[in-house]
Amino acid sequence: MERPVDSSPRRPCAAVILAAGAGTRMRSSLPKALHPVGGAPMLAHVMAAAEALAPERIVVVAGHGAAAVTSAARAIRADVEVAIQQEQRGTAHAAAQARAALAGFAGDVFVLYADTPLVRAETLAAMAAARDAGAGLVALGFEAADPTGYGRLILEDGALVRIVEEKEATPAERAVTFANSGVICAEAPAMWDWLDEVSDDNAKGEFYLTDLVAIARAHGRTAAAVACPEAETLGVNSRVQLAQAEAAFQARARIAAMEAGVTLTAPETVFFALDTRIAPDVTVGPNVVFGPGAVVETGAEIRAFCHIEGAHVGAGAVIGPFARLRPGARIGAEAHVGNFVELKNAVLGEGAKANHLSYLGDASSGAGASIGAGTITCNYAGGLKLRSEIG
Ligand code: UD1
Ligand code: MG
Repeated sequence: MERPVDSSPRRPCAAVILAAGAGTRMRSSLPKALHPVGGAPMLAHVMAAAEALAPERIVVVAGHGAAAVTSAARAIRADVEVAIQQEQRGTAHAAAQARAALAGFAGDVFVLYADTPLVRAETLAAMAAARDAGAGLVALGFEAADPTGYGRLILEDGALVRIVEEKEATPAERAVTFANSGVICAEAPAMWDWLDEVSDDNAKGEFYLTDLVAIARAHGRTAAAVACPEAETLGVNSRVQLAQAEAAFQARARIAAMEAGVTLTAPETVFFALDTRIAPDVTVGPNVVFGPGAVVETGAEIRAFCHIEGAHVGAGAVIGPFARLRPGARIGAEAHVGNFVELKNAVLGEGAKANHLSYLGDASSGAGASIGAGTITCNYAGGLKLRSEIG
């Protein structure tokens, strides 16, 4: 549901997405970056935000669960590059792993975190604008209700002079509430040289990406801070925060749908996926869940208690109440799918009706067909799935 950003011609950009961390607090065998929000891995959200900048290259830095992260990243975007961070030695160390993949690239490099899925494309565009205005490095900050645990952006006369991690902060610095989101944008190739200067001589014994601010300034460049709402910087470290990110994503998706001309009778009960596409003048009743891959054309009505994924609903069709559309369901224009009807890999022709208690799997029915109550297609012949064709 990301809106494309107005991209006037500007310097080329690349995105580096850090996804190597262990995610210990998730208590999960699934790498943290692959936990879903809105039916898509958090990594996909960050990649979608980055893609709105039309980057020349996207590099994902993987470490923990690298094989799974690599195949998920390639499934999201085939030309994504993956750099491996063998040992997790800090955010600067992680970003530096992308250097080989971006050899020869000159332009803006955005460093993003895979566990911060709600950063908006518009915010990244504001960072790009700050780079255009001359800053060598731009960091994304936010006014934190409670800044505990975050790095602090230290400003002097409006200029960003350094970022200090909480463990190293003086009491006065800890009192600062302008917190570091982690997202930075800096110019390549200079950024790689700056990264070489980062040391691990600090409280955690890690290479801090945040040190780049002071290093860029030592090289005579300026640094700038861009602020965004705290909701965008929500970082997911636990299942509780995962649920908070889900809630924030859904709240945003509902508003985006309504602003795009979709009526939601009870918005707080409708759940979207990252890739849900709903045309204007669709009405969605209460308690409807869209899984990944749902497309609904204009004028359709989705009545209460439907579950729709991997399905295409044609213009003016009426779905539900209590219908389930599974992957491969294609509902023709003006067709009706009624209560307790399930379709999987099945086509319901234009104006056709399946109104009560039916299962259509691996089947097609022609335009205007009427599937009577209690009808099922039954095509499973000892491991062989045959298609049913209804005229
Ligand atoms: C970081 C920032 C802090 C900021 C906070 C925002 C630094 C030094 N600190 O702290 O200023 O307020 O994020 O949430 O940058 N990662 C790797 N490899 C590593 C280490 C981390 O890929 O070796 C990835 C993680 O998977 C994660 C991201 O980088 O996606 C952030 O790492 P994390 O350890 O959570 O950083 P924080 O301590 O939260
Ligand atoms: Mg963190």
